[in-house]
Amino acid sequence: MEDHAVIAQTSPFYRELKKGRAYFWCTCGRSQKQPFCDGSHKGTTFEPQKFVAEEDGQEVLFCGCKLTKTGPFCDGSHNNIEGAYKLDNPESALNKAIPIAQREGAFTNLDGGCFVFSPEFADLKTVGTLSCCTVVDGAVAAHYQSQFYLRLKKGQSPIITFGDDDAVVFVASGEGTAAIDDQQYALSPGTSLLVVAGEALQFDAAPVEGCVIFVSVCSASASIGFAANALGNSAAAHKVADVDRCVRVDQDLRQAMGERYFQMLVVKPGGGIPAAQFIGEIPTSKAVPHKHLYEETLIVLSGTGFMWTDTKKAAVKGGDVIFLPRKQIHSLECSGPESLYVVGVIMPGDNPTINYY
Ligand code: FES
Repeated sequence: MEDHAVIAQTSPFYRELKKGRAYFWCTCGRSQKQPFCDGSHKGTTFEPQKFVAEEDGQEVLFCGCKLTKTGPFCDGSHNNIEGAYKLDNPESALNKAIPIAQREGAFTNLDGGCFVFSPEFADLKTVGTLSCCTVVDGAVAAHYQSQFYLRLKKGQSPIITFGDDDAVVFVASGEGTAAIDDQQYALSPGTSLLVVAGEALQFDAAPVEGCVIFVSVCSASASIGFAANALGNSAAAHKVADVDRCVRVDQDLRQAMGERYFQMLVVKPGGGIPAAQFIGEIPTSKAVPHKHLYEETLIVLSGTGFMWTDTKKAAVKGGDVIFLPRKQIHSLECSGPESLYVVGVIMPGDNPTINYY
């Protein structure tokens, strides 16, 4: 009896399903009707795996490589099959015909609502030591998340709240502390801090120039609120263990994805909307254009490159933010000699390695 699965395809199969219908995912890889069973597993140790769709139009990425640990769904395992993570040539005739989009204010708009934000051209609102602006929200094609750019001067910031939404803070540069109600957290570049709905937050930036912080909020209609009162002692502040709340970039915790690397930072903040934050390293390369089922914001920490969509591309550099809508075909190229380092927030989802074509 054959006991090894065959790789049917080194990427997942995208399918839209019908509510209540049973689908039988091929686990042996021998079916000619991928990703579904056609009986070819006879004489092997494999059986098809049944999946019943929960809603009409449910979008599923069925594993094609048969190496997933979360069958029938793709879990990104295909990226580590030798030669499966396909690269593209930015100098091909097709790619050379794609023009560079023009920046308008702080935004360079690409296809399908994708854009690159360059904070040095943004109008910031200043409240005390804090200057900030909205980068991503429902007004710019986001459905699941908002993101705010914060620049801090030395000293205590105003007290900030994000209403009924969970938020994830990422320190891009600068040092200091953050107080969440009565708890204090040291901040340095690469610190990620979870702020749960209902909590109040106050920064105290050290006398270092250029303290830059990004805050991602789990709602496309979020806004930054300023509280007049001193920090309280909210019940929310005690619901999250420090080990889950405050995470730091650690090279030892990174995982490979093809020739790229990533480290998960915060996963599913507050247990609410599935969301995840990660840091990734992209070596000099351009991936073949692909899509994700999640919406994503990418903070470019360092390096240079281009964000490509169907008909346009935009230059990116350290400090920029990229917003990528669900299902938008794209490729983020690292064009410089140094790797591109990015911090991504994906919603809905908790696995940034799941890509399809
Ligand atoms: S196609 Fe098998 S894990 Fe993605």
